[in-house]
Amino acid sequence: MDILDVIRQRRSIRVFDRRMPPRELIAECLEAATWAPSATNQQPWEFIVLTGSALEAVNAITEENFFQRLPDGTAFGDPPEPMKTRQQEVLDAMLAAAEKGGIDPNEIFEKSLRFFDAPVAVYFVSCKGTDSLYQLSTAAALENFLLAAHARGLGTCWLTVTVICAEDLKKHLSIPEGRELLGGVALGYPAADAPLNKFLRTRAPVGEVTRWLGF
Ligand SMILES: Cc1cc2nc3c(=O)[nH]c(=O)nc-3n(C[C@H](O)[C@H](O)[C@H](O)COP(=O)(O)O)c2cc1C
Repeated sequence: MDILDVIRQRRSIRVFDRRMPPRELIAECLEAATWAPSATNQQPWEFIVLTGSALEAVNAITEENFFQRLPDGTAFGDPPEPMKTRQQEVLDAMLAAAEKGGIDPNEIFEKSLRFFDAPVAVYFVSCKGTDSLYQLSTAAALENFLLAAHARGLGTCWLTVTVICAEDLKKHLSIPEGRELLGGVALGYPAADAPLNKFLRTRAPVGEVTRWLGF
């Protein structure tokens, strides 16, 4: 598949079937993650891959502690325009898709706290620095992982809600000081025909977000 097709076709998957992705396939996607650029090639990332009882244990920690750890008491914050409008658009589309699939809107949020019941979760751990270079590098690795997984027929969803209880999770996962949980990713095979995996997401036309100078 052409890389641009992979980029355009990847989407967040929120309903997974029960098949377990082979470990070698997950490792292949993680290896692709390691080919991301990083500041002076420091590769400030580590990956933690969980399934079975290990995954259930972290899900239980997030579900138990989420609402105490939520910084401002709201799940989605109050972004400025034009992000606010875009956020509302995707939330409306997601809720409409949930209704179509017979899923209670509250259930989507609850499921997101447990990686949408995906068979595998991957935490991307970043070194902490005095600036954002380590986070940027680890985010690049994470995006590589999402694209590699899509190219291999797997579905993913990058989930901020899974790292809100970072301190509890770090303790549980023996993640040392100087490292942070940057993101959690749900991983598995997309459930066929689930409306929540199919609703329309839009992008602002590239001309609206680009300035061409000196051309
Ligand atoms: C930093 C980040 C955090 C995200 N957190 C969540 C989340 O907590 N819950 C969720 O359902 N999706 C989450 N997503 C997925 C976005 O909702 C999704 O990428 C966006 O709506 C665009 O849709 P697409 O990925 O299908 O193109 C997150 C994505 C990013 C990049």
